[in-house]
Amino acid sequence: MPDTTKHLLLVEDEAPLRQAIADQLSDRGYHVEQAESGEAAIARLADFAFDIIITDLRLPGVDGSAVIEAAVARYPDIIAIVVTGYGTVKDAVEAIKRGASDFVSKPFQIDELMHVLGSSLEQRRLKSENAYLRSQLEERYRFEGVIGKSRPMARLFQLLETVAPTNSTILITGETGTGKEVVARAIHLNGPRRMHRFVALNCSAIPETLLEAELFGHVRGAFTGAVGNRQGRLEQAHRGTVFLDEVGTMSAALQMKLLRVLQEREFERVGDSHTTKVDVRVIAATNSDLARMVAEGQFREDLFYRLNVIPVHLPPLRERKEDIPLLVQHFLAILRNGAPTSLTVSQEAMRRLMSFSWPGNVRQLENAVERAVALSAGRTQIDVGDLPTEVQKAQETALTTAVTLPEDGLDLDAFIADIERDLIQRSLERTGGNKGKAARLLNLKRTTLVEKLKRLSSPE
Ligand SMILES: Nc1ncnc2c1ncn2[C@@H]1O[C@H](COP(=O)(O)OP(=O)(O)OP(=O)(O)O)[C@@H](O)[C@H]1O
Ligand SMILES: [Mg+2]
Repeated sequence: MPDTTKHLLLVEDEAPLRQAIADQLSDRGYHVEQAESGEAAIARLADFAFDIIITDLRLPGVDGSAVIEAAVARYPDIIAIVVTGYGTVKDAVEAIKRGASDFVSKPFQIDELMHVLGSSLEQRRLKSENAYLRSQLEERYRFEGVIGKSRPMARLFQLLETVAPTNSTILITGETGTGKEVVARAIHLNGPRRMHRFVALNCSAIPETLLEAELFGHVRGAFTGAVGNRQGRLEQAHRGTVFLDEVGTMSAALQMKLLRVLQEREFERVGDSHTTKVDVRVIAATNSDLARMVAEGQFREDLFYRLNVIPVHLPPLRERKEDIPLLVQHFLAILRNGAPTSLTVSQEAMRRLMSFSWPGNVRQLENAVERAVALSAGRTQIDVGDLPTEVQKAQETALTTAVTLPEDGLDLDAFIADIERDLIQRSLERTGGNKGKAARLLNLKRTTLVEKLKRLSSPE
């Protein structure tokens, strides 16, 4: 059964007032979390999709309207209510311009807050989308089609800005679906070669015997079926960029020829005796561990160093969950393709999307969104039931939900014990109860695991 409890973030710097409001909201069935500052609120918003945020406008440091702006930028459908001081209606109007749904002035009765909250919820239910914000989102957080505003992505954009204008060879690594090809294109489009071609070649998609001709071209009669002279991808990319995907799958012979291209920018077409010169920038990508392949003698060390001049690593999606809402909006906008109305995503569905581990990374997320759009036909909102089963089942882990220090502190030992117990349980579940295997998953000795199990399950 879907959890319909509304998750609410309450931001207020006066502790007693905050606690009083939180208690009243909890009594009315809201699941309330508290933040004592704008900074704390923004940090919390980064990893959890709240349904509602209520914030004081005046906060030391980052103020309430900045919190609202951050919340709305991330979750266009969040309900944001500001609490203003006496006689500061002007500020409230400003906050509403920034995306707040409504406001209450201090001092207020809880009923007044509940009334405002209720009507905002109702309004939100009726009004399903805010196209303006959506288009803004896309402008702000991308580098030529590469979406993301998490810390690793921000660092990546910085790196891309530095390397795009150069001619340096780049090696992009990352798990499948992390966006290696979109990043390669973005580098090309942001560099001086953008007026020329970006030519991609997936080295693993072409049989070994044809790969050489594909890359270097061939002359007539070079092999059976080579009816005319033909340019290879390298020549097609002249003055532009060539993108060699899955470069780790190249044969030893081809590796040597590629090395020569990198060193001398020259090669011979298959069956040709004269040398062709080419001016290309090379971007290579791989999802295998090339350094290990070098150590195991499967990949030339000299080629590895020539390729790995600038290493660009793309983090898996599970390490940048805060990008998920942005990516979802991005894919929805693409799928909508200019149609006037569009879908929103329920906060509960968004929470599941953010809890799932996405082994197929952004590509898998993109597919899930596409599927959900199809399944939700005729409705205005994507809900949990529209997500793939494994995503529906995704649970927020204790680790991601509880690692904030509660206002009134916590019992560290008990807290750690909880996490230990949870992880041990999961590893046992995963290994079908095999303690030896479970211990290995946790890098423990079997005896240590058994010991911990006993200690953690026996009440003191
Ligand atoms: N940061 C991103 N922003 C927007 N779209 C992205 C991003 N990363 C990936 N995508 C989308 O996800 C899909 C997969 O990306 P891409 O093909 O670049 O991945 P890849 O790393 O090359 O995967 P593989 O290793 O399987 O070839 C594409 O449709 C791409 O547009
Ligand atoms: Mg790829």
